[in-house]
Amino acid sequence: MTITPFTPTALLVTGGAGFIGSNFINRFMPRNLGCRVVNLDALTYAGNLKNLTAVEQNPNYRFIRGDIGDAPLVASILATEKIDAVVHFAAESHVDRSITGPEIFVRTNVLGTQTLLEESRRHWQAGAVPQFRFYQISTDEVYGSLGDTGFFTETTPLAPNSPYSASKAGADLLVRAYHETFGLPTLISRCSNNYGPFHFPEKLIPLLIANIIAQKPLPVYGDGSNVRDWLHVQDHGAAIECILKNAQPGSVYNIGGNNEWQNIAIVNLVCDLLDSRLGRAPGTNRGLIAFVKDRLGHDRRYAIDASRLKIDLGWSPAYTFETGIAETIDWYLTNQSWVDAVTSGSYREYYLQQYGGAQ
Ligand code: NAD
Ligand code: DAU
Repeated sequence: MTITPFTPTALLVTGGAGFIGSNFINRFMPRNLGCRVVNLDALTYAGNLKNLTAVEQNPNYRFIRGDIGDAPLVASILATEKIDAVVHFAAESHVDRSITGPEIFVRTNVLGTQTLLEESRRHWQAGAVPQFRFYQISTDEVYGSLGDTGFFTETTPLAPNSPYSASKAGADLLVRAYHETFGLPTLISRCSNNYGPFHFPEKLIPLLIANIIAQKPLPVYGDGSNVRDWLHVQDHGAAIECILKNAQPGSVYNIGGNNEWQNIAIVNLVCDLLDSRLGRAPGTNRGLIAFVKDRLGHDRRYAIDASRLKIDLGWSPAYTFETGIAETIDWYLTNQSWVDAVTSGSYREYYLQQYGGAQ
């Protein structure tokens, strides 16, 4: 296939203070020294500027606290910063929260994406930059749930089951529509479950690590037999950079590492790895496991076929799960102060310390 190489000069990263966005910025900036990065993040509960201490002094980095749904703000950033690529991570991302409060998911994930698309279209059509990309960071959850066999491909019909995944699917369809209707040069990737540093401890793996350290119960939904496909967040970041620079506008790529685990197997693994690291007798941490009421509408199994990305663009994951999970556990152990700041809520004061203004 024909590849159109694209070298961005000024990225607008939305949601760059969250888990994947911050890992992306921390990886991207040292590898792309000529490229400026503007991070637009509303700093919801999930936004943590402590994730970005590695880049905060970099003259090519700028943080702006703001909402992706603020059209005048988005328009002004696109114009004044001469943005030639929007890498759109900002979202409400937690399935459980979408079950108890779906409205903010529609506001941020659907309407927020619509605002970004519309302002991007104006900016691009005004000819403000020679080339432009709008890159939607999406999720395998838009495809719904699998049975015991099979994989999601890029042509699997969208069949989201949770308010979260429905809002992401809605955003994906708007992105598709802006490409089809206006020709906006868009990209979409749909990734499986990420793990790694700076993961907010409401999600399974960091919750397990934090609770094991604190000797708190480990809630396992249902019987723990649901299956997720795990990828290291740095491998996700590498795939995003590869797609941004090399993919044809209008394309969609799945991202995943062929690494399926039943939840209970992940829970047991993390328990056992932490037994030895914390000097606890083998089996101690498994004693913390507590089977709890299942998540409503709990998707049974996700499994990604990422062969299009491998064949077209040559991406493959660098981490094995064995090394990735061990490194991740060690990161949380050596960065206990990060976990403590999140748990106590003091991470929210960092914005005030660094940038002044009310939190
Ligand atoms: P996260 O919840 O850790 O971070 C989301 C970030 O978006 C936060 O910094 C938050 O402050 C910001 N944000 C929320 N609403 C905003 C708004 N209205 N305006 C500006 N900023 C806002 O999420 P994450 O896990 O890093 O996920 C990032 C993206 O990747 C999401 O779009 C998610 O759907 C997608 N994704 C996540 C995974 C995963 O395993 N975590 C897998 C595939 C895709
Ligand atoms: O697949 C990609 C998606 O992965 C992303 O789009 C989402 O933003 C991200 O949050 C993640 O969604 P999941 O719902 O798969 O992740 P979570 O960590 O919440 O749950 C993983 C599995 O573990 C899931 O089957 C539910 C289960 N679980 C989760 C929690 C928080 C438990 O059994 N106990 C828990 O306490």
